[in-house]
Amino acid sequence: MAETARKIIIDTDPGQDDAVAILLALASPELAVLGITAVAGNVPLALTQLNARKICELAGRPDTIVHAGAERPLVRDLVTAEYVHGKSGLDGPDLPEPSMPLAEGHAVDFLVDTLMREAPGSVTLCALGPLTNIALALIREPRIAPRIGELVLMGGGFFEGGNTTPAAEFNIYVDPHAADVVLRAGIPTVMMPLDVTHQALTTAARVAAIRDLGTPVGAATAALLEFFERFDEEKYGTDGGPLHDPCVIAYLLNPRLFSGRHCNVAVETGSELTMGMTVVDWWRVTDRPPNAMVMRRIDHEGFFALLTERLARL
Ligand code: RIB
Ligand code: CA
Repeated sequence: MAETARKIIIDTDPGQDDAVAILLALASPELAVLGITAVAGNVPLALTQLNARKICELAGRPDTIVHAGAERPLVRDLVTAEYVHGKSGLDGPDLPEPSMPLAEGHAVDFLVDTLMREAPGSVTLCALGPLTNIALALIREPRIAPRIGELVLMGGGFFEGGNTTPAAEFNIYVDPHAADVVLRAGIPTVMMPLDVTHQALTTAARVAAIRDLGTPVGAATAALLEFFERFDEEKYGTDGGPLHDPCVIAYLLNPRLFSGRHCNVAVETGSELTMGMTVVDWWRVTDRPPNAMVMRRIDHEGFFALLTERLARL
């Protein structure tokens, strides 16, 4: 990685799209992955921490620090998504059991210790799953909030609605209370909602280009995407499914691929009808202060070109 590499921590619930985001990060010398913190989400924690290590080994990076974090949301019962990701959470390719160990210690302690050790503002958090670990870290040590350089999260939806209920996107729906804590913490935040990720479709041509890399990573990524996309292709009737989590990493590598607006985002934590809805004050009709850069547009051709070029490096 480059001397001046940007220090990041990836908080994740792999998940095929998380896996591709991790590969993209590990393939990019502009980024220094200080660690990966697993959280319960797409599948239970025992699988998300295992899957994170499988992906690090696929990337040839068994040196990556992987910690296990929260096994359930702050308040609500865990809701998982095997119907999308398969029983393993990483269905598609047959990846070997990892030989790299799970790091000692809880992910929340790793987040707090790292943020208190590293220079203020020097670490970016990349949140690819429910925000439980990050909320717990903020509750455990509020002093980390001003030390977080930037939080880039995949989650929420507004004009696009929800993907888990009509109102809510999965990551926020699973732990709306955590999302509420995080969005109120005053952290410089970039939000990649469904409004953006639904424009980043894994079309047959794009998956073929990844498979045509002719490498084990290319083959595994194509298999991950072909499994992952089937649910959304069926649901939305599209060629390919939305590739959510890699948008977070792509933003770090080339923010010009995205455009949006700095707005207030509030999370529903009361009504069961709209639980986990991200209410985005896009038109600034309230006096609620902007707390997130909400992305709404992506250059999806440029995004997949970047992703494919980086995967070729692994
Ligand atoms: O709604 C999409 C998000 O939920 C993605 O992060 C996917 O991995 C799941 O966690
Ligand atoms: Ca995820």
